[in-house]
Amino acid sequence: MDWGMKNRLSRLIQSDGRCMFLPIDHGYFQGPTRKLERPGETIAPLIPYADGLFVTRGVLRACVDPDNAPPVILRVSGGTSIIGKDLSHESLVTSIEDAIRLNVSAVGMSIFVGSDYEYDSLVNLGTLVDDCETYGIPVMAVTAVGKELEKRDARYLSLCCRIAAEFGAKVVKTYWCENFEKVTQGCPVPVVMAGGPKCETEREVFSFVHDGMEKGAIGVNLGRNIWQHAHPVAVMKALRAIIHEKASVKDAQEIYDQEKKA
Ligand code: 5RP
Repeated sequence: MDWGMKNRLSRLIQSDGRCMFLPIDHGYFQGPTRKLERPGETIAPLIPYADGLFVTRGVLRACVDPDNAPPVILRVSGGTSIIGKDLSHESLVTSIEDAIRLNVSAVGMSIFVGSDYEYDSLVNLGTLVDDCETYGIPVMAVTAVGKELEKRDARYLSLCCRIAAEFGAKVVKTYWCENFEKVTQGCPVPVVMAGGPKCETEREVFSFVHDGMEKGAIGVNLGRNIWQHAHPVAVMKALRAIIHEKASVKDAQEIYDQEKKA
């Protein structure tokens, strides 16, 4: 691997081989979703605990202080909205030149395997990997399901993750599911977990993150279950303990309970 590619990846994936990314890119198709109406205010207290920020160029420039920003994974795909016909109909919407201008550590885009626009999203991934290899920028592929959340099982997600890796993604972001080892074992590049819509309790989040880490994930790219929570810093500290200190679910809950009082 070339020096630049390696250096960018090492900013994101910590020396223990693990990572905690904070995605705040949801507005690119959901608009001002709950608790992300003013992204700058929501993320300011969370920035110290994020190993990377997954964000669009618009929110990055408007809401993130360049003097105090964690390494950035720039979302470069889009073109649909929650009220449009089909969330899978995305294109590449940000140039590699702008990604370089923003000094990003990686770029990220969604693929929609099994959708009407499967072909387009996979060809876009190939194009993005070609451009990024030229400049030593890692690509994170997002295995997106649009509104079809029920698709998230090991058979489907292992197919998506493997295809993303075959196309040259350096990291794949997918959902946790039952039998998650099938997903990580079939994917030759590191896998990080997204959270999906907010869970009822923080303990559910600690449990699936712990299970996914035990089964081969290297970390998370977890958004709503953090910043839509009433105590996001406490959740982040507990999750960091699972990811970086191999804490148990019980330990994480104790950290959360303690931090919540602070
Ligand atoms: C949204 C994304 C998010 O980055 C991803 O889904 C993770 O966020 P959450 O944990 O809220 O699902 O790709 O477009």
